[in-house]
Amino acid sequence: MKYLYSKKVMDHFLHPKNMGHMKNADGIGIAGNPVCGDIMYLYIKVKDNKIVDIKFETLGCPVAIAVSSVLTDLAKGKTLEEALKIDNKDILKVLGEVPPIKMHCSVLGDDALHEAIYDYYKKNNKQIPEWLEKKHQQIIKRNKEEHH
Ligand code: FES
Repeated sequence: MKYLYSKKVMDHFLHPKNMGHMKNADGIGIAGNPVCGDIMYLYIKVKDNKIVDIKFETLGCPVAIAVSSVLTDLAKGKTLEEALKIDNKDILKVLGEVPPIKMHCSVLGDDALHEAIYDYYKKNNKQIPEWLEKKHQQIIKRNKEEHH
């Protein structure tokens, strides 16, 4: 029998990295999936402009969990500017094949990461790049629409 998910997806789903809550996070990002309503919380700890620790809590399908796990692995140790460049293509490169109907699940990760970095910038009065501000507004709007 051929499984719907690749071995990599199953590995990360069954043994996710960096899963759990973080107390006293420096930045928190929340992103919802407009297609299915699933939601991801991402917590970052920042030191010297680097993500020194990262954790996620995701209420979602196996792909969303695997995406969260890979994303946290990719972002850990990166500077904030490097982490902002991570997108779902980088995540899919690690995960391999994802069924086409599950492609929407892969965007949850970088949205939540961008939101966590946005939150950190805001709390620390840092200059926020224009594109990040725009993306933040879109995510906020989407989250509101979902909850009405
Ligand atoms: S079905 Fe909701 S994130 Fe995958």
